[in-house]
This record gives sequence, C-alpha cells and structure tokens, in this order.
Amino acid sequence: MNDLQLYTPKPEDGWFYVKMMSDPATMAYNAPWFPPDGCIPNPEAEWIDLQANWIGQEPKRFYAYLQRNSDGAFVGDVNYHYNPERDWWDMGVLIYAPERGKGYGRQGLRLLIDRAFSDGVKRLHNDFETERDAAYHIHKSVGFREVDRENGIVQLELTREEIMTEHPILVEEIGAAAIPQVAPLVAQFRVTLKALKGIHASPDAEAGAEELKEYLDAGFPVYAARSGDRYCGYLVCRVDAPCVWVESIYVLPEFRRKGVGAALFQKAEALASSYGEDTVYNYVHPNNDRMIAFLKSRGYKVLNLIEIRKTYPGETPTTQIQVANHTFDY
Ligand SMILES: CC(C)(COP(=O)(O)OP(=O)(O)OC[C@H]1O[C@@H](n2cnc3c(N)ncnc32)[C@H](O)[C@@H]1OP(=O)(O)O)[C@@H](O)C(=O)NCCC(=O)NCCS
Repeated sequence: MNDLQLYTPKPEDGWFYVKMMSDPATMAYNAPWFPPDGCIPNPEAEWIDLQANWIGQEPKRFYAYLQRNSDGAFVGDVNYHYNPERDWWDMGVLIYAPERGKGYGRQGLRLLIDRAFSDGVKRLHNDFETERDAAYHIHKSVGFREVDRENGIVQLELTREEIMTEHPILVEEIGAAAIPQVAPLVAQFRVTLKALKGIHASPDAEAGAEELKEYLDAGFPVYAARSGDRYCGYLVCRVDAPCVWVESIYVLPEFRRKGVGAALFQKAEALASSYGEDTVYNYVHPNNDRMIAFLKSRGYKVLNLIEIRKTYPGETPTTQIQVANHTFDY
C-alpha cells in the first residue's frame, strides 16, 4: 500500500526544502562534500534555483516532494536529471530524518521510477558509498542492478526494458466479470476527457461501471491490460464492418510509456485486419498532444478536422481530429 504521492512544490512550500537541507540528521550522508555536517549553505538561494530550473523540465530534469496522503505532510524529496556524457539519468531520493524507518524510501523510489519511465526516461543511475546499507537495500529491492563497486562507491542502474520484462503486461478481451476492476479506469478516462475540455471532474466508478456495461451489452469488444492482478489500461472498439473504431483508450499515468497503450492498440489493429482492413479509426481531441504523439508513433496521421458528436448540455462544443493510418491518403 502506497501512503505517499509525488507533489510538485510551489514557491511557498520552500520552507520544507530549507528545513531538510539545514537538518544535520537528514544531511549527514552529505558530509564528505559539505563538511562538517552535510548541510547545504544558503538553502534559500538553492530553492530559488530549484524552482527556476528543475520544475516542469521533464524528461530532462524532475524534482518533487514526497507527500503523505493521510495528512498532507511532506516527508522527503526525489529528483532525476539527464547526464548527457553517460546517456543516463542520475537520480536521488531523500527522506527527512524524523520520517525514516517507515518504508518511505522504498515507496518514494517506486514513485520516482514510475514517474521517470512514464516521462520517457530510459535508464536510471545512482551511486553512493558502499557503507550506505539502507540505500543499497531499497535500490536492490525495487530492481536496481549493481554495475560497479570501486573506491568505496557502488554504481546502480535500472532500465525501462528491465522493468517491462520483470512485470509483463497481459492484454485480454474482457466480459462482465471484470467490470468492477476496470470501471475505475473508465471513470479516470472520463475525468481525462473532461480535463482536455477544461472541465474539472472527480472520478465516479459507478458511472464508469455503467458505461462499461453499456459497451459490453452492445457487443463492443473491450480489452484490458493488467500487470499481475492490477488492471492498468483498457480499450473499447466499435465495429462498423469493415471499419474498426477505437472508442476509448486509457492507460493509468504510472504505467504510461511502457508499451501498454501500444499493446492495447494492437488488439484493435488485429481486429481490423480480421475484416481485411489495415487501419483503425479514432477521433482525438486537438489538445490531446499525448494521444496524437502516440498515434503518430504508430504511423497514423491527421486526415481532417471533423465534429464527431452533439455536445451535452453545459459542455463547450469542440473540434475533433480524425486520425487514420498512412494507407488512407487523400
Ligand atoms: C495515449 C495513451 C493511451 C498512450 O499510452 P502509453 O501506454 O503511454 O503508450 P506507449 O507506452 O505504448 O507508447 C508508445 C509510443 O507512443 C509515443 N508516445 C506515447 N506517449 C507519448 C508522450 N506523452 N509524448 C511523446 N510520445 C509519446 C512514443 O513514441 C511511445 O514510444 P516510446 O515510449 O518508446 O518513445 C496514454 O497516454 C493515455 O492513457 N492518455 C490518457 C487517455 C487518452 O488521452 N486517451 C485517448 C483519447 S482519444
């Protein structure tokens, strides 16, 4: 169970950074570089630099606080940054000393890994002194591999491919029995679509379950992706033979950029090919840069602008982009 989340700090949250950087118990590990106690001189200036250069720079750089869900308290921070000389991303995780011993280091590391690989990072790297047993242990426990140990420093590495091999994604067609597990994803997708139109909404699992049931009752093929027992994405197709439309595709944020979307989309393409078609159809909101990048990476391109459906009361009408495979040139 993860009690922490990543929190992008605002300028007024700098007090926590200053508190950590000035706390000898938290910073003791840093003493060889910042004697005598590892504390950073002038943390207020460092904070201004962090705000200016580290936030909103993904996938080159990333910085976030670790925030406890139960009471909103900050308990540490995480970061990654690209190292062009080595073509890897150096990373760091730091837990505020009074919050140590609660499993937050490992949770923070997992959150950072998920975030980094979904931002497009390919290879994470960390190094520290061989005697830092706790740090070594948590890195190993989340899958890091030791690549070198020299002059008292251990080098550790984890690639996106390794994570993907360790947790293979299964994609299967689902029926009514899977509704309870997949409905929360449908609810999240509805929130995502509303956000693209500038409407804020909270996920409603019941509405998600209803929508999913309607699709299944109408005979729409629905596919879901899971990693172990955890459902992480789904796709709904509508067959208007011989055309196959992707009605919805959604991958949980922490599973993005790991090939889940591609594995789901391949199901729609396989269905289209069973009708002798080598393309699938999909409507994309013009603000949906992620989906457009995803479709382009699969050889699809924008054909024309088209309005796809009537708007609901209170909803602003939007123009939609129709995307089809390169074989449908016009
Ligand atoms: C769009 C979405 C389904 C993609 O799922 P995904 O599992 O992250 O996609 P994949 O990992 O299979 O990505 C395959 C390729 O697509 C491209 N791509 C995917 N997301 C991208 C992004 N954010 N920026 C740039 N390229 C991206 C990349 O080329 C990627 O390959 P790479 O990671 O090796 O570079 C996912 O971002 C999502 O659920 N978005 C919210 C829901 C949504 O908008 N649905 C569409 C409504 S029509």
